[in-house]
Amino acid sequence: MKNKILDILYASMESNVSGQAICRELGVSRTAVWKNVKMLVAQGYDIESFGGKGYTLHGKTDVLNKYEIDRRNKFHVSVIYKEVVDSTNMLARNIAIETIEEFTMVAAGKQTRGRGRLGRDFESDNKKGVWCSFIMKPRMVPEKALLITIAAAIAVCKTLLEICGIKTGIKWPNDIIANGKKICGILSEMSCETGAIEYIITGIGINVLQKKEEFSPEIEKTATSVFMETGREYRRSEIISALCYNMQEAYKMVKNGNYETIMKNWKKYSATDGKTIRIIKNGKTIIVQAVGIDEKGRLVTINNNGEKESYNSGEISVRGIMGYI
Ligand code: BTN
Repeated sequence: MKNKILDILYASMESNVSGQAICRELGVSRTAVWKNVKMLVAQGYDIESFGGKGYTLHGKTDVLNKYEIDRRNKFHVSVIYKEVVDSTNMLARNIAIETIEEFTMVAAGKQTRGRGRLGRDFESDNKKGVWCSFIMKPRMVPEKALLITIAAAIAVCKTLLEICGIKTGIKWPNDIIANGKKICGILSEMSCETGAIEYIITGIGINVLQKKEEFSPEIEKTATSVFMETGREYRRSEIISALCYNMQEAYKMVKNGNYETIMKNWKKYSATDGKTIRIIKNGKTIIVQAVGIDEKGRLVTINNNGEKESYNSGEISVRGIMGYI
């Protein structure tokens, strides 16, 4: 019933809806409406109540739940939402084994054991960010999986530009940086069966509402958030819904082999192209220039002797771009 009440209140947002009208429309008692409104307020909705005369929903609050994601979900992607999980990537993995859906989003209010690349932890034990994972089941060879991570990075940059007006860049293959600091991390994990992808999970963590002092000392100097970049408290539901849309577009781009669009977008958002970078491979550091990516999403570099080389993710670590380490 809560969702139906929200439907009615959203349809007349910022204006008074009489309690009687809600009762009539839903065929329930005034007490039932009042009880459900109380629960919505406890969830964080800003609903003003006029002593039995009616209710007004104010739209400035940041409530994140399945309803808020679904109501903005243009593509009707299947969405699973949990208030608290250990890691959306872990939950996604369990779902991926069972589901027959080709594209599913798993999102959480907070993660108690957010996972980063190279076995690191990812700071997300708070309700300040967008923490989600996409489960994709494409019929595709595993060699193309890196392109999904690249396309996901493009989807994040697009979303942050469209919704928050922030210009970000991709530090190949999966860090999103704003003004030299990390605003988002991406972790893709894949399972393969007889030479084909069984499922790929792409986890995305965007820092949204954190203030500088709210980051742990370990990442305080290298991390940033949407709030720190804009001074505004954007709603996580708005960002996550736009991301869900852009991510589905990105997925289609890779699935349909639309490389021209991927390359065009890569050039638009790359923070590495044309830059001198340090590559760390098997403990050795090489200084090269980043040229771009190839059709598999591998990083293409050129050295002082004019020799070109392509690198896969996992094979190397990239350092020394725009101040972000
Ligand atoms: C990195 O920067 O090392 C990658 C970070 C990926 C974090 C996201 S948050 C949602 C999803 N669930 C996880 O446990 N990790 C990813």
